[in-house]
Amino acid sequence: MTTRILVTGGCGFIGSNFVRMVLAERPDWEVVNLDKLTYAGRLENLADVARDPRYRFVRGDICSPETVRDAMTGCTAAVNFAAETHVDRSLLGAAHFIETDMKGVLVLLEEARRVGLQRFVQISTDEVYGSIAQGSFTEESVLNPRNPYAASKAGGDRLAFAYWATYKVPVVITRASNNYGPFQYPEKLIPLFVTNALRDESLPLYGDGRNVRDWLHVADHCRAVLFVLEHGAEGEVYNIAGGNERENIEITNEVLRVLGKPASLIRKVEDRVGHDRRYSLDAGKLRRLGWEPRVSFERGLEETVRWYVEHEAWWRPIKDHDGEFRRYYQEQYGARLG
Ligand code: NAD
Ligand code: DAU
Repeated sequence: MTTRILVTGGCGFIGSNFVRMVLAERPDWEVVNLDKLTYAGRLENLADVARDPRYRFVRGDICSPETVRDAMTGCTAAVNFAAETHVDRSLLGAAHFIETDMKGVLVLLEEARRVGLQRFVQISTDEVYGSIAQGSFTEESVLNPRNPYAASKAGGDRLAFAYWATYKVPVVITRASNNYGPFQYPEKLIPLFVTNALRDESLPLYGDGRNVRDWLHVADHCRAVLFVLEHGAEGEVYNIAGGNERENIEITNEVLRVLGKPASLIRKVEDRVGHDRRYSLDAGKLRRLGWEPRVSFERGLEETVRWYVEHEAWWRPIKDHDGEFRRYYQEQYGARLG
């Protein structure tokens, strides 16, 4: 029997990489991609598979029960990537985050329960644990989300768990660290800095530039999600991390090195409010089950930088012609960059 899965948010960064991987690696699977096409959702991210007969795109909102019901018809499993995802935007206004990252999850879980899905993967984030000075968070650590994005994701995460604990909806939850790779919207650190540097524009580094993130290549993340979809245990949480902790200034210097651009492009600007200092995950639980990251950070970052160099036709229309991006950039960086 054909396996048909619902992927939500499949036109975003990680979702599009995941859809492409599933179609390539599971030849007998079909994928229904439900995406609202917010500013971050781009049809061109999946242009290469748009005509695949095993792929169907549905434009719609995960907050709409009717839309979700239609899209879920005939599916045995769902992976929920759909979310508002950018911390800085959640600091400018949190309403959309609560709507999609919490209410949207509720709608999906209700429909999953109604149709009797065999698997529901909720994509959560390491941000739900908050900041840690030393050591690493395990799946047993207390949740301490400290910005509106993180809090809304923690709400979705725990709601998904509650639907397993209460109704036995077969939920599995993943919490990944910072992803990097192709097709990441150029508001996030790496694609923003690469594309700014390519045009000799300033790189707005927040605060002292010494906040730490643990970087995970998107292909390794997608492999982990597929692994958990097939082998994860119901009601369980799995941390996913690359094991590549770096200060933001190190990332910035490496981007400049690969591009052959000068350090004078770096501008230390006013910090993000409530900026979490360090994220760190212990991903031992998933590693013991057999998943491990394959992409070395040095190679992955260099390839990623080159991807943006070679795909200017992908990012230039966003940065130059998308009024939404330009308004956001002005609001976020106008005063900071002066
Ligand atoms: P993204 O912003 O690139 O893409 C989000 C996608 O969701 C877009 O295609 C958008 O159109 C869609 N979407 C938003 N609201 C929707 C709605 N109401 N209904 C239907 N579709 C909607 O995000 P991403 O970076 O690919 O992140 C995907 C998921 O992974 C998110 O749940 C995020 O919280 C999680 N995550 C991301 C990272 C990371 O580093 N990027 C790390 C850990 C977890
Ligand atoms: O940790 C997982 C999370 O990673 C995901 O859940 C989020 O969806 C994703 O957006 C990402 O959140 P971050 O806030 O860590 O990512 P961002 O790329 O926005 O920032 C990475 C670091 O770089 C952070 O310490 C802030 C800093 N930064 C970011 C931008 C955009 C800057 O110094 N300057 C910038 O202009």
